[in-house]
Amino acid sequence: MNVTSDIFYVGVNDHKSDLFEGQYVIPNGMAYNSYVIADDKIAVMDTVDKNFGEEWLANLKTVLGERKPDYLVVHHMEPDHSANIAAFTALYPDAVVVASAKAFVMMKNFFGTDYSDRRIVVGEGDKLELGKHTLTFMTAPMVHWPEVIVSYDSADKILFSADAFGKFGALDEEEDWACEARRYYFGIVGKYGVQAQMLLKKAATLDINIICPLHGPVLSENLEYYLDLYNKWTSYVPESSGVTIAYASVYGNTKEAAELLAEKLTEKGCLKVAVSDLARCDMAEAVEDAFRYDKLVLATPTYNGDVFPFMKEFINHLTEHNFQNRTVAFIENGSWAPMAAKVMAKMLENSKNLTFTENNVKIMSALSDENRAQIDNLAEELMKN
Ligand code: FEO
Repeated sequence: MNVTSDIFYVGVNDHKSDLFEGQYVIPNGMAYNSYVIADDKIAVMDTVDKNFGEEWLANLKTVLGERKPDYLVVHHMEPDHSANIAAFTALYPDAVVVASAKAFVMMKNFFGTDYSDRRIVVGEGDKLELGKHTLTFMTAPMVHWPEVIVSYDSADKILFSADAFGKFGALDEEEDWACEARRYYFGIVGKYGVQAQMLLKKAATLDINIICPLHGPVLSENLEYYLDLYNKWTSYVPESSGVTIAYASVYGNTKEAAELLAEKLTEKGCLKVAVSDLARCDMAEAVEDAFRYDKLVLATPTYNGDVFPFMKEFINHLTEHNFQNRTVAFIENGSWAPMAAKVMAKMLENSKNLTFTENNVKIMSALSDENRAQIDNLAEELMKN
């Protein structure tokens, strides 16, 4: 696949892995992207996951023919991109490795060598001349590891953006970009919104026609759409108005409350209500919804003087990813000593700029008429917010 007349896609599609990074389900697989800039000098941009080394080297060979690469540019050392560095350097002993100083330290740890005899260390603003193409490097620490660099090719106006603008899903699958890019961003990079914002500020100074990420499709049209979403996600601003209802339920009573609330919200005209059963759903999807919409309802029984374990895990995901700037409501259940609302409030006490609703719901086992009225009042308040 040509990205431009002399930039080629040589990445691979992964339909073998069940989990990405050991935790994220990837029903439509995953893409590990790699590119070749074939100029006077040839630069290969990143490698791929360890299970796809042979396929990747074959892709390289198809593009290179008898030519040999001059450089391997390593933007990111996470193994989904770096696992084949040693295989590449063994196959092409004259190629020079180009990466940040921190990346070379990681190479030593991963591969036992920091390539001190065949490397170029690059940092902010450094350039690599290839002929017609010149790469300018920018640091992007914590997007999503500390050693990350991105690069900009001024000839074709391309940003090689590392994990930024990536998504789950193999490239031979048709699917909506935003859905799986959002789940990917909030799960994997979401804790580092401040750092991702810094990268966007650098990108804003560039004239970009194409974004080449390390996962997901090459983005070459309507870039404002992607940049606008990334701007919202990285600044923790809700993407749209809507309500996420995340619940855990032991015998179905808390579930009934959550579903009744969803019904009431829909009746009152709320267009976006996302309901997740935390014991059964893909929790990364529920986390994504919590960051997507401006209101979140947490519903759980009290359990061992605490909240139900799935709710605990869910709130931990939110706080670890800097959940903020949202309206939050609680539905608690407890057959003898309801504690859940207190525990959830405590878990969220350090989250910035949360507005807690005045109407909450306290269930003492099964839904009472009073609870139904409380749920109606809560729906009313959420519609006003
Ligand atoms: Fe796709 Fe952070 O590696």
